[in-house]
Amino acid sequence: MLPMCYAIPGKVVAIDQKFVTLEYYGQQKKALNEFKQLSIGDYAYAQGGYVVEKIPLQEAENILSAWKEIFFELQNLDLELSSKPLREGSGDSKLTKLLDKATQDKELSKEDLLYLFEQNDPTSIELLFKTANFLRHKHLDNSCCVHGIIEISNICARDCAYCGIALSNKELKRYRMTKEEIMASVEEAVNVHGFKALVLQSGEHSGYDNDQLADIVRTIKAKYDILLFVSFGEIGLDGLKKLYEAGARGLLMRFETSNPELYARVHPGCTLESRLEHLRYAYELGYLILTGGLIGLPGQTPQDIIDDLFLTRDLHAEMYSFGPFIPHPKTKLSADKAPDELTVIKVLALARLLDPKQAKILITTGLETISLEARRKGLMAGANSVMLNVTPLYYRGLYSIYPGRAHEKEEIAVQIEETLSLLRSLDRAPTD
Ligand code: 5AD
Repeated sequence: MLPMCYAIPGKVVAIDQKFVTLEYYGQQKKALNEFKQLSIGDYAYAQGGYVVEKIPLQEAENILSAWKEIFFELQNLDLELSSKPLREGSGDSKLTKLLDKATQDKELSKEDLLYLFEQNDPTSIELLFKTANFLRHKHLDNSCCVHGIIEISNICARDCAYCGIALSNKELKRYRMTKEEIMASVEEAVNVHGFKALVLQSGEHSGYDNDQLADIVRTIKAKYDILLFVSFGEIGLDGLKKLYEAGARGLLMRFETSNPELYARVHPGCTLESRLEHLRYAYELGYLILTGGLIGLPGQTPQDIIDDLFLTRDLHAEMYSFGPFIPHPKTKLSADKAPDELTVIKVLALARLLDPKQAKILITTGLETISLEARRKGLMAGANSVMLNVTPLYYRGLYSIYPGRAHEKEEIAVQIEETLSLLRSLDRAPTD
């Protein structure tokens, strides 16, 4: 039985007047053909017994290689995928209908994503992940971006309820790298390790004003041909403009949550509106937008998370950055719990379904902190981006937004080696 609902191209192996025989991984199926130009050896999609589209050879071969694994597994799973047409829509087939919609590049609604998010049986989750992986491969092939991040200061003027470097954590030793230290780190990242894209990050109002930040950006850009992202929080619209003019081309700023009440609750004295104003203005200026939210904030609902994904897309995100909330002992939310790994990976998979063709979907350090296998699992569920920490080791431990951060003690060379060997084992190519 063939899961015809999924858009797997079949190879034309026989033509008998109006009927063609299509072969899928060795199995044959007849379909009514109204395409005059179809010949033996061509590939085509069939739906509901009709040939619906002829597929160029190269495209068909790509799709078939991506589908091979899932195809045979689907056959083994008793999902009744093919025994009754999905469009008849029994309760059981809703999942496959939605995944089907996704593989055919149709828009999914908020209800669709919520339904998928709330599936908890291992088979459904597996299918979701495989579909996301399929879409990633179909549209973006095997490329994976690898960016570096330098955390230039842990000084912060905000008091976010979840964050370990929040203002009210008086026990934390604070640091601010000098311009010379920043330049030395950039030099090492670019010249020794070959990074082509770097993020500079700090707490908000770290003691560097916007002119000083612009000077740092300008100095880096004058020396190195790299894509430079900035992540200094809400530096004002004029600040964004200044840094853009200095040469910054990406903004990493999560909106954290799209729920305005929840946002206000965990960010005392701040508004979601102001955050979004920054993100929207940055896009207008021409910045690449890297944004997303925290998963598992106390009081956050599944609907909130789905809204977060849609908001990320509405903000024209180049990169989706979604990671788990991890309780930090010195914060107001110390007694709350981190979400489990599957919940987070589901969100990554849903991001792929929502924005299949372009999105860079990041495996965050947060996810790596709660799951040792995060990268492999995430990369197999729609994600295609990792970030390595290139902050000098002697400062890295002080950037303690949450405890036990993954890679906190790893030399850059070690991180690179591990990342490349993982990518190689998955047949992925680092594109940066
Ligand atoms: N758990 C997970 N992520 C956190 N961040 C800050 N504190 C935590 C925490 N406790 C994230 C925020 C911020 C990014 C720099 O770090 O989402 O945008």
